[in-house]
Amino acid sequence: MERRHELFFVPIERRFRLLHVSDVHFSVVTSHEHNARVTEEILEQLAFYHMPADPADPEDDLDDPVRVVCVTGDLISRGYDDKSMEDALTLLRRLQETAPVVYSLGNHETDWPEDVLHGFLARVRETGVIVLDNESAEIGGVTFTGLTLPRSVFRHENGSYRRLTPINEDLVRECLGHCPGHPNVLLAHTPLGFDAYAAWGADAVLSGHIHGGIVRVGNVGLLSPERRFLPKYTKGRFLSEDRCCTMNVSAGIGKFRINDPPEVICIDLMADPAEEG
Ligand SMILES: [Fe+2]
Repeated sequence: MERRHELFFVPIERRFRLLHVSDVHFSVVTSHEHNARVTEEILEQLAFYHMPADPADPEDDLDDPVRVVCVTGDLISRGYDDKSMEDALTLLRRLQETAPVVYSLGNHETDWPEDVLHGFLARVRETGVIVLDNESAEIGGVTFTGLTLPRSVFRHENGSYRRLTPINEDLVRECLGHCPGHPNVLLAHTPLGFDAYAAWGADAVLSGHIHGGIVRVGNVGLLSPERRFLPKYTKGRFLSEDRCCTMNVSAGIGKFRINDPPEVICIDLMADPAEEG
């Protein structure tokens, strides 16, 4: 599993570190052993970036704890079973031992029968993890909002990917209401609505969904889950036209992939030094 570190300039007073985990995709076909190994690897990345100052060491002025872990959907695949749910809950619980966890939904979870999804989310909430299903939560002065888009953005009921519902500012506002103020971080499973998220007022966007383009040649990801070639956003950091919003697209962790390593990303939110003083 690879790690990546990014700096995002947002209207914030004090540096704020978060960890971005996406598309873990535990499923009916991933074994408990596989899930346990992936869990350990994610926890290793969290431990690597979690650097609270040592109170016993007066020389230690490093203070970069991970303040929030953001999980941006597809934690479990459409093909779920009891084992994948238990293993996902274990992962969330263990992340939560180090830092608060916020979790937003992907298109796979929203494809589950409604009662299954509600039952699972109730169990997630019992762990103390904050579920952001078109909701916001404030942690350490930063507002986190999780976007759940309608299914027709991803795929029609009949399985077709043709003429999908476009993601525009109105749709985002319909789901979330008005932007809650700044600084804020929007957890939005698909990066395809980046312009709409920026127009809504997001300072930072965390996305996944594209799995890095599934097959990567050099820096280019070839495919999207909507069966499109050369999707616009596959992995990395993107800046909106007005430069007010930055998006991280995670290549994710699970599922089939070629030349496209799983990754966990550490993001430091900080004020733009060019705008200070
Ligand atoms: Fe996914």
